[in-house]
Amino acid sequence: MSIEAYEVKTSDEAEKVRKYVKMCSRKGGKAYVHSFGCQLNVSDGEKMKGILDSLGFTFTDKYDEADLILLNTCAVRESAEDTVYGTLGNMKKYKQQNPGVILILCGCMAQEEKTIEKVKSHYSFVDILFGTSALSQLPRLLLEHYSGKKLAYDIAEYSEEFGADDQIRGSSFKASVPIMFGCNNFCTYCIVPYVRGRERSRSADVIIKEVEELAAKGYKEIMLLGQNVNSYGNDLEDSMNFAQLLRRLNQIEGDFWIRFMSSHPKDAGKDLLDAILECEKVGKHLHLPVQCGSNSVLKRMNRHYTAETYQEIVDYLRARYEGFSLSSDIMVGFPNETNEEFEDTLKLVERVKYDNIYTFIYSKRSGTKAAEMEDITPDSEKRKRMERLLKLQREVATENYKRFVGKTERVLVEGESKQGEGWLFGKTNAFTIVEFKGNKSLIGTFVNVKITDSRNWAVSGELV
Ligand code: SAH
Ligand code: SF4
Ligand code: F3S
Repeated sequence: MSIEAYEVKTSDEAEKVRKYVKMCSRKGGKAYVHSFGCQLNVSDGEKMKGILDSLGFTFTDKYDEADLILLNTCAVRESAEDTVYGTLGNMKKYKQQNPGVILILCGCMAQEEKTIEKVKSHYSFVDILFGTSALSQLPRLLLEHYSGKKLAYDIAEYSEEFGADDQIRGSSFKASVPIMFGCNNFCTYCIVPYVRGRERSRSADVIIKEVEELAAKGYKEIMLLGQNVNSYGNDLEDSMNFAQLLRRLNQIEGDFWIRFMSSHPKDAGKDLLDAILECEKVGKHLHLPVQCGSNSVLKRMNRHYTAETYQEIVDYLRARYEGFSLSSDIMVGFPNETNEEFEDTLKLVERVKYDNIYTFIYSKRSGTKAAEMEDITPDSEKRKRMERLLKLQREVATENYKRFVGKTERVLVEGESKQGEGWLFGKTNAFTIVEFKGNKSLIGTFVNVKITDSRNWAVSGELV
């Protein structure tokens, strides 16, 4: 177990907080924890649940039953921030009626200077605010709050290490393992490097031990996380690189799959692609966000690759593994994106044949370079471009998914499907969603499914 987590459980500070929790909570010390944004944030949420658990809290999924509300926020797009402020607004009444309830704002928005100002001026009912590298300070901040401080906050960077047992995971068979934090890439549109700091890799030994523990506990899917996992280890001396780490994790005993995200195309080298292709536990799928297909826009985005070098990666993978599955993030309407530049994105989507794309209309983030760029393209035009992109992707995916029909696929069963009574869903090693009829007891296990039908986002079939 890591040093920080050990301290949380045994420190005097924690002991005092536990006493306050017993004394001050009307509902027995119930916490509502909600994480917005990416999987790294969700993983942070699981760690904070671990801390709260060791401080004597139990959990509820209804905020209006809670003594403590923790909103772990995302700042990547303006809409993400609006959602958080909307949620805060909804909670205001509950907080006014129950002044003893502790309201905490943390995560990426909390790291932004402007948020602190806005909270002080418009959301003064927030009690505690802390940043993305200060999770371990939660017990101290709670103590400051209990001691009467109006807004307890800390956005400094602490060196933190949480072990496999120090978190309360959302699933009993899928686990996330962050392998690095922060980002050095400064894509011109992106706020992440400002709110998550520079790249910090966790030691390979610690990661290997954590995955070994999870595999021994029977976890079936391990998701390695980082803003750019390909640059894993660059900040450490004599460290493994990401390809080497994948190969090492692949040797761990147990029946489980390894996935990872996100990868940056600028450093998806052959050694990494070979590792993915050759490691039997690693899913034959790569989430490789391209952002757009125009070289001039890629340059303005500071992405350091071209549509051609991106295509080489795709071709390499598909030459060695027919039907290798790719997914991507694509942004429409970057400042002054012309129609021709947008057409290049459509051409790329048609060429690459993604199974899945996550699409975003560019959103201005103050503090980033792109926020200073001129942008004369009207929003209505951006929305039209988005519609064209989505229409094309539906056509591409409809064709793509036909390749699975007639095949029998190994599927990790994840839950009940919205299809209807008796339907389950799961994912294949290539991250394809599969729906089929089966018993709920199969959730969390591997099954074989014969694929009989396909759509533009999933396939369906029968249990073998
Ligand atoms: N580190 C990951 C992505 C992090 S953010 C990577 O580089 O792939 C997830 C996605 O949000 C990005 O890939 C991008 O497509 C989108 N995004 C980031 N900033 C944005 C902005 N200002 N406006 C719209 N979309 C944005
Ligand atoms: Fe943002 Fe670019 Fe870093 Fe991804 S790689 S988090 S898009 S700056
Ligand atoms: Fe959002 Fe922060 Fe993740 S800005 S996308 S929660 S790193």
